[in-house]
Amino acid sequence: MSENRVAEYEQLGPIAVITMSHPPVNSLGHGLRSAIVALIDQALADPQISAIVLTGGEKIFSAGADIREFDAQKQASAPTLHDVIEVIEASGKPIVAAIAGACLGGGLELAMGCHFRVARSDASLGLPEVKLGLLPGAGGTQRAPRLLGIERALNMIVSGEPERARQFAGTALLDEVVDGSVLDAAVAFACEVVKGQLVPKRARDIKIDAPRAEPLLQFARTAVAAASRSFPAPTQCVEAVAHAVGKRFDEGLRLEREIFMGLMATPESNALRHIFAAERAASKLQDVPADTPLRDIRRVGVIGAGTMGGGITMAFVDAGVPVVLLETRQEALDRGIEIIRGNYAASMKKGKLSQTQFDERLSLIEPTLDYACLADVDLVIEAVFEEMNVKRAVFGRLDETLKSGAILASNTSALDLNEIASFTKRPQDVIGLHFFSPANVMRLLEIVRGTETAPDVLATCMHLSKRIRKTAVVAGVCEGFIGNRMIARYAEASNLLMMQGASPQQIDGALQRFGLAMGPFRMSDLAGLDISTAARKRKAAVDPASQERIVADVLCEAGRLGQKTGSGWYRYEAGKRDAIPDPSVDAIIEQFRGARGIAARKISDQEVIERCIYALVNEGARILEEGIAARASDIDVVYLSGYGFPRHRGGPMLYADTVGLANVVRALKRFAAEPGAQSWWEPAPLLVKLVEAGRSFN
Ligand code: 3HC
Ligand code: NAI
Repeated sequence: MSENRVAEYEQLGPIAVITMSHPPVNSLGHGLRSAIVALIDQALADPQISAIVLTGGEKIFSAGADIREFDAQKQASAPTLHDVIEVIEASGKPIVAAIAGACLGGGLELAMGCHFRVARSDASLGLPEVKLGLLPGAGGTQRAPRLLGIERALNMIVSGEPERARQFAGTALLDEVVDGSVLDAAVAFACEVVKGQLVPKRARDIKIDAPRAEPLLQFARTAVAAASRSFPAPTQCVEAVAHAVGKRFDEGLRLEREIFMGLMATPESNALRHIFAAERAASKLQDVPADTPLRDIRRVGVIGAGTMGGGITMAFVDAGVPVVLLETRQEALDRGIEIIRGNYAASMKKGKLSQTQFDERLSLIEPTLDYACLADVDLVIEAVFEEMNVKRAVFGRLDETLKSGAILASNTSALDLNEIASFTKRPQDVIGLHFFSPANVMRLLEIVRGTETAPDVLATCMHLSKRIRKTAVVAGVCEGFIGNRMIARYAEASNLLMMQGASPQQIDGALQRFGLAMGPFRMSDLAGLDISTAARKRKAAVDPASQERIVADVLCEAGRLGQKTGSGWYRYEAGKRDAIPDPSVDAIIEQFRGARGIAARKISDQEVIERCIYALVNEGARILEEGIAARASDIDVVYLSGYGFPRHRGGPMLYADTVGLANVVRALKRFAAEPGAQSWWEPAPLLVKLVEAGRSFN
C-alpha cells in the first residue's frame, strides 16, 4: 500500500483501491483533490489494473468541498472539483464509488461522476449546499436529475436534507445497496465489471424526459418562491435543475457554475457559512484541551418541577437519560409531573410519540421529595425560585448529599454563579447551565463558567449538551450572561423609541421585516410583562438608576401581563395567539409621554433597526471585551439559536461587520450625543479600537 498523505493506494489483483483519508470528514480541499487525480493517473498507467474503486473507507465517504477553503484562492486552484470529476468520468478504466457514512455535497457529486456506485444501506446521501446559501456547484444539479429524475432531484437539492442509501435502492443513483463491508462489495462489483458483465455508464449521457419535466419545474418555481421569500439559493437551485432539462450537459454545467459563483458572493451565503463555522467553533475552548477526560453522566437530578425544571427533565429523558426530579411539596411535584405527562400525551396525539416511547419516557423520571434519592446522581441541575436565599439553601443540601465528583449546576438566569458556588465546599464542581424556555424545545444552552469551575466539568457539560441536542455556548459570570444582558439593552432601546413616538406595532413590524422571529413587544407579551417587571425591580434594589417607571409597569398594574391574561402590548382573542393592536395601549403611551412633556416625533423603520440592533451590538462588544464571551461568533450563535435572530444575517455581530463597524460607531456616537442620552449609547471601547485598526469582529 502506498501513501499519499491524504489518500491511499492499494492493489487488489486487477483492482486499484483509492481511499480518501483526510480526517475528519474527507473534505475535498486542494490537497485531497490533487491526490485523487495523481492516484487515478497511477492506476491508469499500470497495465495490471483494469478497474478502480474510489472510497473513503467504512466510516465516511466525503462531506463535500472544503468549506474553509471557500474564501481562499485554493478553492479555484487546479485541480478543481470539476477537474477531478472530469478525470473520473473520462477514465478509460471503470471507476466504482464505494460509499459508507456521509456522502454529501461535493462528495456525492464526486460519486455521481463515477461509472458505478455501491453504497452501504445506512450511508447518508445528500446535497446540502442550499443550507449554506449555495447550490451543488460541481455538476450536482445536472447529474442528480439524470440519475434520480427531476422531482426527486429537486427535492434533494432544494431541501438539502440527506437520506439513507437504502431509500435510493432501485434508482440509477446506486447500482448496489449492501449491508456489511462496502469495500468488499465494491471490489467484488468491480471484478464483475472487469469480467465484462456490466457496461460502464456516465451520468452525463442519460437523457431527461423534458416534456414530463416542464410542469414539475413550473410547480417547483411557484412553491419554492413562496417558501423561500427573497432568499436567492432555493430559487436558483430550481433554475439550475431547469438547465439540466433545457440545455446540453456542458452548457448546463457552465450555467450551474455561474450561478454557484454568484450565490457565493451573496451576503446570505456569507452569513450561513459563518454560522456553520461559528456553531462548530463554539464547542472549543482555548484552555480546555479536546482530550480533557470527561466525567461519566448516567443519571441526573433536577431540583424544582416548575416551568424550567419540567422542561429540563424532558430534555434529558428525551435523550434517554434517567432523571430524579425533586420538589419541596407533593402538590408542586404532582403538578410538575402532570404537565410533563400532558406534554408527552399531546406529542402522542400528534403522532410524534408512540405509546411505548410515552411509557419509556415517563418511566425514566423518578419523582421525589427526599434529597437522599440524589445520592448517586452524576449531575444536578437546580431550577428553583430566582432568589439567592433559596439557592443558598438548595446548594447547601446538595453539597451535603451528592457523591464526590458529581457536578452541581444552576439554571439561574441572572444571579451571581460565583456566590452560588461559595455555598458549597466544592466550587470547582459548580457550573451554570442556563436553559431557555421551553427547555425541551429551545436549542440554546448557555454554559456559565464560574471563576473556579474545573476544566473537566466544563468539558463534560459541553459534551453533554450534544447528547441532549443543544447548541452550547460558554459565558462568563455577569448579570444576564451573554443573551439576556444584550437583550436588556435592546429592550431599553425599543422602549426609548416608543417613548419618542414609534408604536409597539411599528417597532415589532420593522424588526420582523428585518427578519427577527418576533419583535420586542410581542416577545414581551409571550414571556409575560410581569417577568421583566420583576427583574427590573430586583435590579432597582441594587441600582437606583434603573428605578424609573416605564409604560410596562402601567400595563402590569392594569393586569395586562401579555398573552396569558389576554392582553399586554396587544390584545388576544381567546385561544388565539394573533397580536391585535389595541388603541387603549396607544392611549396609555400617549398619556405617559404627555406627563413627561415628550412630543412624539416621526421615526423611520430604518432608525428602529439601527437603534435596536446597534444596542445589541454595542453590548455584545462590551461582553467580548470583558471576556464574558470568547469570540464574536459565540455571541452570534447565542442570538441565532436562542433569540430568533435571522439566520441569513448571521447574527448581530456578523451583521455589524456587514454594515461596517465604522458606520455602527458613527450611529452610536450620534445617539450618545443627543440631549439626555443614556451613557450606554457610547460606543464600546472595543468597537472604537476595531474601527481605528480597520478590523471587524469576525
Ligand atoms: N468542509 C470543511 N470542514 C468540514 C466540512 C466541510 N465540508 N464538513 C465538516 N467539516 C468539519 C467541521 O468543521 C468540524 O471541524 P472541527 O472538528 O474543526 O470543528 C469537523 O469537520 C466535524 O464536523 P461536525 O462537527 O459537523 O461533525 P458531525 O459528525 O456532527 O457531522 C457531517 C459530520 C454530517 C459531515 C457534518 O459536518 C456536515 O453536515 N458537514 C457539512 C456538509 C456540507 O454542507 N457539504 C457541502 C459542502 S459545499 C460543497 O460541497 C460545494 C460543492 O457543491 C461544490
Ligand atoms: P417556577 O416558579 O416555574 O418553578 C420553580 C419551582 O421550584 C417551583 O415548582 C417550586 O415549587 C420549586 N422550588 C422552590 N423552592 C424549592 C426548593 N427549595 N427545593 C425544591 N424545589 C423548590 O420557576 P422557573 O420559571 O422554572 O424558574 C426556575 C429557575 O430557572 C429560576 O432560577 C429562573 O431564573 C431560571 N430560568 C427561568 C426561565 C424562564 O423562562 N422561566 C429561563 C431561564 C432560566
